[in-house]
Amino acid sequence: MNDKSSSLSKEPLIRAVDLHKTYATRGEPLHVLQGASFEVCPGEIVGVVGASGAGKSTLLHMLGGLDRPNSGKVYFRGQDIFAQKNGFLEAFRNRHVGFVFQSFNLLSDFTALENVMFPALIGNTDKKLAREKAESLLCQVGLRDRLEHRPAELSGGETQRVALARGLVNDPELLLADEPTGNLDYRASDSLMDLLIQLNQDAGQTFVVVTHSQKVAAKMHAVYQMFDGKVTPREKEFII
Ligand SMILES: Nc1ncnc2c1ncn2[C@@H]1O[C@H](COP(=O)(O)OP(=O)(O)O)[C@@H](O)[C@H]1O
Ligand SMILES: [Mg+2]
Repeated sequence: MNDKSSSLSKEPLIRAVDLHKTYATRGEPLHVLQGASFEVCPGEIVGVVGASGAGKSTLLHMLGGLDRPNSGKVYFRGQDIFAQKNGFLEAFRNRHVGFVFQSFNLLSDFTALENVMFPALIGNTDKKLAREKAESLLCQVGLRDRLEHRPAELSGGETQRVALARGLVNDPELLLADEPTGNLDYRASDSLMDLLIQLNQDAGQTFVVVTHSQKVAAKMHAVYQMFDGKVTPREKEFII
């Protein structure tokens, strides 16, 4: 599973070219991305590792069109996502990309089922269909008995699974997961990663997974490291 399959298409699904991003601060400006380039082919599951503060979340936000770089381009299927007309990015984020955020961002007043349904309803999916899809995904991630629970009534691992189901509800071609196993214990983390890999194999969706875990990264098709504002491939031999 660790080697790239020869059947994977060579045309990148998502490609970032020479991204620069600077945050203004009260002191010196912070040059978080300094010429970051990165690409992922359809059907790949790749890991992004790097120290805390290295810019992993910033990179993911650019790939998903949540934030703009100061310079550089992001192409989705060859299309420059920041050079399209008004409304493109909203549609892109809703239809083509799924996010699993570091902080989950689940809505606390709504049940697991409702949280998963929301992106589908925003995308104008019929309510009955949205419900069926959300139920099916929650069953797939092992939460058949937690559909009506609110986030406060779920464990960390369960919450993370709801966030994953929500990220997948619109069948995105690209799923961006920001430390999806960050708050989980060893076993829950392993089982969530196995689930991601299974989903990648079954549905052929493309996954970019930010992780601190070398063990998690070792299960990916490829691993990239963020350092000094750049992204470089990381040799699997160095991952234990
Ligand atoms: N909106 C922002 N304004 C100012 N600084 C930010 C902002 N977002 C992130 N940063 C800083 O940029 C650096 C990279 O952040 P981030 O991409 O979240 O890193 P990582 O995900 O690798 O831990 C961090 O030092 C963080 O404090
Ligand atoms: Mg982060």
